[in-house]
Amino acid sequence: MDLQIPVVDLNDLRSVNDERRQRAGEALRVAFSQYGLAYIQNHGVSREDVLALYEQFMDVLRRPQAEKATWGGPDIWYQRGWTPPNTEQAVVAGGQPDFKECYFAAPVPLDKRCRSYWPQIYNDNVWPDSADSYRDAYLGLGRTVHGVGMDLLRGCALALGMRVDTLTSRCEGGAHVTRLLRYLALSEGQLNTGVLWGEEHTDFNLLTLLPGGVFYKHGEQTGDRPADFSGLKLRTRPTPEHPDGQLVSGVPPKGCMVAQVGQQLEVLSGGRFLATPHGIHAPGELGWERTSFAHFVHLNGMQTVAPLGPFRDADSIYAPPVLAGTYAMKTLVDIGLAPPSTMDQFGYRQYDRLAQIREDD
Ligand SMILES: [Fe+2]
Repeated sequence: MDLQIPVVDLNDLRSVNDERRQRAGEALRVAFSQYGLAYIQNHGVSREDVLALYEQFMDVLRRPQAEKATWGGPDIWYQRGWTPPNTEQAVVAGGQPDFKECYFAAPVPLDKRCRSYWPQIYNDNVWPDSADSYRDAYLGLGRTVHGVGMDLLRGCALALGMRVDTLTSRCEGGAHVTRLLRYLALSEGQLNTGVLWGEEHTDFNLLTLLPGGVFYKHGEQTGDRPADFSGLKLRTRPTPEHPDGQLVSGVPPKGCMVAQVGQQLEVLSGGRFLATPHGIHAPGELGWERTSFAHFVHLNGMQTVAPLGPFRDADSIYAPPVLAGTYAMKTLVDIGLAPPSTMDQFGYRQYDRLAQIREDD
C-alpha cells in the first residue's frame, strides 16, 4: 500500500509557536481530506489506564443479564448505560445487528436546553451499583480524550482556514459520549460465515477518537491478536486509482490514537473532510473477543448541520440545514436504537391520523 497517513503531534497543535501549530494543522488537513483519518501522538492518554478500564468493563459485563437490563434501556434509546447484543445495526447491514454489547456515558456537562428537546440523547449517566472505580476511571478517561478532541477541532479550524474556535464553540454542551464496546466470541457455527463484529458505516458525529482496542482470548486480555484479517478496518477516501478507497488496519503507529471524521464534520466542511467508513471484522478462530473505547464529539444539538460560510457553494450536495439534535434522532432510528415512532415527533403522524379518520367514516 502507498498510504502515508499523517501523524499529528498534539504538542505541536497545543504549542504557542505559530510555525508548529501550522505544521500540525497542515498534517490534519492532509489526513482528514485525503484519508479521513489521522494518527495522533503525544495525546496524554495512558495505555495502561485504557487497558485497566477494559478489565473493569469486562467485570461489570459479567453481572446477571437482569441487572444489566436496568442500566438505561430502550426508553432512553440505549444512549446511557448498557446496549445489549443484537440491538444496534449499521444502515447498510440489511437488518443484521452488530455482534457486540456496549456501554455509553457522557463525560462532560450537557446543555440543559437541549435536554428538553432530546431527553434521551441528553440523559443523565447511569451506573451499576458498587462500581465507583469503574465510573471514575470511565469519566476520567472520557474527559481526557474529549480534551484531545477539542484540540483537534481547533486544528481542523486552522486547517480549514477558519477562526480557531469555529468548531469548538459549536460543540459546547453537545451530547459527547464515550462508549466502551465488547465484540463477542463467535460460536463454531458462526466462524467464517461472513458474520461481522461491526458492519461498515460512517459515524454521524463530528469527530471520533479511538485510543486503541485490545483482544481477549478465552476471557483473558492479551497483547496478541488473531492470525487472520480481524479487528478495526478503516476505508480511505476514494481516488481515481482506488475508486473504492483502501482498507487500512485500525492499528496506529505505537503510542498513537486514531482520529476519524464523522458525517457532521463532512457536512460543515462542505466535503473538504470526508467521513471515514469503518467496520469491525470478526476473527476466523474460536475464543477471541475484543474491547474498544470510542469517544464521539458532537455538535451542540441546537447547532445547524450545514456547510460553514466559506463552504456554502451554490451546487453543494449538503444544502438543507438541520439541527444537530434532530440529525442525531434520525440516525438513532436508522440504526435501530430509537423506535420508528420517534419520527412522529416531526408531525408526520397527521397522515396516520387522517387515514384512521377516513377508515372510521
Ligand atoms: Fe463507528
